[in-house]
Amino acid sequence: MDKRPIGVFDSGLGGLTAVRALRQILPEENLIYFGDTARVPYGGRTRETLLQYAKQDVRFLRSFDLKAILVACGTLSTTILPDLQAENNLPVIGVVEPTCRRAFEKSRNKKIGIIATQASIRSGAYEKALHWMDPAVKTIAKSCPLFVPLVENGRIHRGDTVTETVAREYLEPMLCEGIDTLILGCTHYPMLTDILAEVCGDGVSLVSAGEEGACELKRILTESGSRTAHDLVGSPAFYVSDRPEDFAQIGSGFLGEDMQGSVRRIDIEQY
Ligand code: DGL
Repeated sequence: MDKRPIGVFDSGLGGLTAVRALRQILPEENLIYFGDTARVPYGGRTRETLLQYAKQDVRFLRSFDLKAILVACGTLSTTILPDLQAENNLPVIGVVEPTCRRAFEKSRNKKIGIIATQASIRSGAYEKALHWMDPAVKTIAKSCPLFVPLVENGRIHRGDTVTETVAREYLEPMLCEGIDTLILGCTHYPMLTDILAEVCGDGVSLVSAGEEGACELKRILTESGSRTAHDLVGSPAFYVSDRPEDFAQIGSGFLGEDMQGSVRRIDIEQY
């Protein structure tokens, strides 16, 4: 049994898709969340910049005594995860493999769409993981750089004509190819699930990188006997690197928990 908290981080709001899942499947665990809102978006940046940012993010999180870190960010999971794992003596879990496993299980026709940030799509990491499972899988990948700013601005609800138009433009070509499963490979994208599900229609299963990362973390903590006592009630603490107010407002709506007043700002450049 291990009562120490779990660290979770992302460039901004996206990692809350993992937090929401963790609050459901591991309600007894304490979480420390960091959203690097001063430097969001990460998706168009170089590997060097991503490595520098991620190291700072992890240094901040490790100012707490953590038992594991969930990299609730597709961009970092697809580009620099091995670097973080090599220099940290605790489990550092990414989202790519569990997400691909779930997508592979769900897909019947083995035509799988992947949407993620530019850095993730350039890395080819999701395709590689799927082709490792079965070289015959057909993958269609597309970066969707407008989705992260739309999410960070709270444009996530059905009826938002701007987000709906952007989603149709991004998704229609891959829907024409007959995909039956779509990987939401950036953790921000599951916040757009209502809109994406409507655009894709009933025949396409959506797989959330945030949720699958959370399930993988649960599996790893369970296997290593590192979960806390089941009768405890865990709580999340939220930190950001810029204005807490917008993060709290959009995050509260998404998590269904009032975060106003409970999000603190830190200076990430000090780490
Ligand atoms: N949510 C992150 C990801 O999963 C980062 C998106 C961004 O900041 O561009 O890729």
